[in-house]
Amino acid sequence: MRMVDLIDKKVAGGELKHEEIKQIIDGFVSDEIPDYQMAAFMMAVVFQGMTDRETADLTMSMMYSGEIVDLSEIKGIKVDKHSTGGVGDTTTLVVAPLVAACGGTVAKMSGRGLGHTGGTLDKLESIPGVCIEQPMSRFKEIVNNIGVAVIGQTGNLVPADKKMYALRDVTGTVNSIPLIASSIMSKKLAAGTDAIVLDVKTGSGAFMQTVEDAEKLARLMVQIGRLVGRSCVAVITDMNQPLGLAVGNALEVREAVQLLSGEISKGDPLYEVCMLLGVHLLLLSKLASDEDEARAMLEGALSRGEGLEKLRQMIAAEGGDASYICMERIDELCKVKHKLEVRAKKAGYISSIHAERIGTAAQMLGAGRATKQDVIDPAVGLVMNKRLGDYVAENEPLCTMYINDDTRLDDALETFYSGLEISENKPDYRPMIYDIVRE
Ligand code: URA
Ligand code: CA
Repeated sequence: MRMVDLIDKKVAGGELKHEEIKQIIDGFVSDEIPDYQMAAFMMAVVFQGMTDRETADLTMSMMYSGEIVDLSEIKGIKVDKHSTGGVGDTTTLVVAPLVAACGGTVAKMSGRGLGHTGGTLDKLESIPGVCIEQPMSRFKEIVNNIGVAVIGQTGNLVPADKKMYALRDVTGTVNSIPLIASSIMSKKLAAGTDAIVLDVKTGSGAFMQTVEDAEKLARLMVQIGRLVGRSCVAVITDMNQPLGLAVGNALEVREAVQLLSGEISKGDPLYEVCMLLGVHLLLLSKLASDEDEARAMLEGALSRGEGLEKLRQMIAAEGGDASYICMERIDELCKVKHKLEVRAKKAGYISSIHAERIGTAAQMLGAGRATKQDVIDPAVGLVMNKRLGDYVAENEPLCTMYINDDTRLDDALETFYSGLEISENKPDYRPMIYDIVRE
């Protein structure tokens, strides 16, 4: 069929066959199908959706559009985690080394931040010397030697997604459950690990604004994983406020170091989500027989400083100066020209936090990119003083901004203030963890 007929079929709500989906992806990757037809097709998917079978076929066609990583040279069960994107989400820097400290094998390819969300690669690069572009052979060697490596996506992994994502970004077609599921899973499956833990975020700072949509996305991704014989678990966690207090690059590395040094206590959202992800990674690694045992292993490794030691080993293996990775020196990476305490204009309870706006405020200070070409400043960003539901007095600091370049400070302040609501009544309790999806 001609591309225009396939677009028509989807516009009319039809179900595309396996060969038809493959034809679209192959044609788009080889430039036979132009951007405008692909954009029209994806817009039809935004409105008409896809069946689970179509989404699985789309994922497979995308996955096979490029290289598939072969990790068979690495011993043991290789695990990976993925977050659908959030603000102050520093979990990888905590969980990956902690799971490795418990005997796990974490082989992770991460991404960069764009817009209001941060990216693990940018955070790692805030540590002097770290090189996130490692050859595949070195990546495997690091994982075999120390049990964990986090590097940039190499080579020609899922070119279909690179091209589709760039187009989705500028055509209003990002927010579609089948398109997000296939985008994420094609990359995770091509990256070659045996098991994957997916952290699906829901709330004001996430793609999935409702728990119901997050559940749908989670189930779909877990099913697609199982279809190709990978074990997958998805957790649904809250993104109605930044997960950690820090939003920035070195600032988030510092928070990870604080957590791994035992400076952040149980009950804290970042701590709890890290434990949850770690528990499921250890279970999928078959290193623990139940959740309680897994959690005890993680807490034991944490309290003995073994997670921090693993993070140091990984950073050193990737060329970085690990001597910064301790409570004594980590502040040196967060040095800025000035710090500004942003104060409450009135007293009351923090009744809502728009996580996306908090992330955007940090981006305006230079912590993130508006376009792929922007250069980020590793030291800048903000650290929240308050969580959802906390009481603030008038003039009490809501956050501390870390500033080097103040050209967009006014915008950042306005955006930050617009992201917080203060009211007389204490808001309802919100869970940090909504659900765990295993099948
Ligand atoms: N993350 C991805 O990798 N793809 C999407 O479509 C959305 C989030
Ligand atoms: Ca459930």
